[in-house]
Amino acid sequence: MFDPRSLLNSRALLLAPMEDVSDLPFRLIRKRLGADVVFTEFISSEALIRDKLREKLDIAEEERPVGIQIFGGSATAMADAARIATDAGADLVDINFGCPVRKVVSRDAGAAALRDLDLMRDVAESVVRATHLPVTAKTRLGWDKEGIRITEVARLLEDCGVQALTVHARTRKDGYKGDADWSFFPAIKEAVRMPVIGNGDVITPQRARLAFEESGVDGIMIGRGAISDPWIFQRTRHYLQTGEMLPEPSLHERVTLLLENLRMSIEYKGDERRAVLELRNMYSGYLRSHRGVSKVRTDMMQMTSYVDIEARLNRFLQESMASEPVAIHG
Ligand SMILES: Cc1cc2nc3c(=O)[nH]c(=O)nc-3n(C[C@H](O)[C@H](O)[C@H](O)COP(=O)(O)O)c2cc1C
Repeated sequence: MFDPRSLLNSRALLLAPMEDVSDLPFRLIRKRLGADVVFTEFISSEALIRDKLREKLDIAEEERPVGIQIFGGSATAMADAARIATDAGADLVDINFGCPVRKVVSRDAGAAALRDLDLMRDVAESVVRATHLPVTAKTRLGWDKEGIRITEVARLLEDCGVQALTVHARTRKDGYKGDADWSFFPAIKEAVRMPVIGNGDVITPQRARLAFEESGVDGIMIGRGAISDPWIFQRTRHYLQTGEMLPEPSLHERVTLLLENLRMSIEYKGDERRAVLELRNMYSGYLRSHRGVSKVRTDMMQMTSYVDIEARLNRFLQESMASEPVAIHG
């Protein structure tokens, strides 16, 4: 069983839960490229108990340890969802106490708990009671700047039996605006014994090193940086260990990995068109910083079939004379 205490002082790099992004193919690829722990996107407890969205619980052996993240405003529903996540084979059950979206918050879920600590306690206690797995939580600094009580929240969650805490260093009111404020982490670390994971705006290896040095967190969770740079985990690990940057992946590596992600998504979703459409927002991360690539991306935005995309990328590779073309798959 995965023990969250192993994260203490580990400088672990965790893949963030991201709705409509952190699906199984995305997680598997980031895992292979160095993520230490991965999380599913958040899954509604209400949906799970109505037997919906079960496909979001799919996990693979190669991605372990994997946390299934659940959200909801009812302690009973969250306990039921924790049991379902446990049966699905998760290594961790993660509670979302950070989602700022109105539709979620208005149902007492996500960041709503930051302005109702009794609710937070109820939910956390019920989830911990409902599963034998370690329970982790992800939250924000507070509801708004005036309401930052993250050290109190951290202690409360630890008292409930939560075994690791990730904090996205913004408030609910911030949404995604402004810079993440990592200055609270030393105080959070002081307040609890459990591992504390910092999150927010880490998009380069250099930023990760600075964040570790300045904040004293045990690990860093990376979200958008894992979209804009699929290699960020291994590049960061290498930089932390050696102080040197790995060379950028070659165009051939970039194309190969994008096509692999596409094939995995098509197979996983069983719907080529849907898989292609859903991967479009990742083209720029996979293909960034190569001369002439923006024209290729524009062309790819019109395409909905794998063979068209593969042919276009192969043509680009040949034109760039970067390396051997990638083999055509059916
Ligand atoms: C597209 C998208 C979807 C997200 N979905 C979730 C989610 O399901 N659960 C969650 O806890 N956070 C979610 N987040 C927030 C991220 O996990 C993370 O806290 C935030 O993006 C800040 O980290 P970053 O700067 O490394 O991206 C999402 C963020 C994005 C961009």
